[in-house]
Amino acid sequence: MATMSQNLFKSLIFMALFVTAMSIDNIWYDAHATFYGDMSGRDTMQGACGYGDLIKQGYGLETAALSTALFNKGSSCGACFEIMCVNDPQWCIRNAGTIKITATNFCPPNYTKRVGNWCNPPLKHFDLSMPMFTKLAPMRAGIIPVKFRRVHCNKRGGVKFEIKGNPYWSLVLLYNVGGAGDVANVKIKGSRTGWTQMTRNWGQKWQTGLVLRGQSLSFQVTTSDGKMLQFDNVVPANWQFGQNFEAKTNFF
Ligand SMILES: *[C@@H]1O[C@H](CO)[C@@H](O)[C@H](O)[C@H]1NC(C)=O
Repeated sequence: MATMSQNLFKSLIFMALFVTAMSIDNIWYDAHATFYGDMSGRDTMQGACGYGDLIKQGYGLETAALSTALFNKGSSCGACFEIMCVNDPQWCIRNAGTIKITATNFCPPNYTKRVGNWCNPPLKHFDLSMPMFTKLAPMRAGIIPVKFRRVHCNKRGGVKFEIKGNPYWSLVLLYNVGGAGDVANVKIKGSRTGWTQMTRNWGQKWQTGLVLRGQSLSFQVTTSDGKMLQFDNVVPANWQFGQNFEAKTNFF
């Protein structure tokens, strides 16, 4: 009897650890925030995650560039964060509440700079679009202390795939990803190939050297929380480089 309950206890502990490992870390951490670009958000388009027109792609101006410590060489691209201004009565707008942003860019370190080097490791820093920063503090604040946590990304419609490259090299951008938002692994299958591992080229652009023209394409996509979705034939056989395709489902 004792052994049985001990075993049950062990399984419960194991399950608890497993569930913890399989969800995003939603603890609040300290960081700082600045802004880049102007109210139009023009300078926030494109960026180090490989996304393009953020408005067309559904991210809008609710975005940020992450410092080295948060960017994780691009693996954080697509992750969503909730941010609030804290401990700065002079600049934090009272009752501003929180903002939610998606990581779409990289705030590069500058090791020669003696002041304003807040994107250098090990600092956690968000360089927000100006429209997002000004929800928390007036522009003239320049830099503010914040608390942030990971949150789930809420997206309209399905996961989207954009295919670029050439007949011998395909580069697939994954965007509009819900749930954890940050894609951690991608496998691809042409209608005449088996499942093949893709590698991260940069940001959320994934590559393969498989020859895939004229084949319908399927994907197995895993987000950082360990959830995997399979998108069968999301790309029809008559696809062309430069086109976008939307799946019927998304992570949540
Ligand atoms: C880094 O900082 C230095 C000193 O402020 C500046 O001259 C230089 O242009 C910066 N480099 C980049 C790449 O921004």
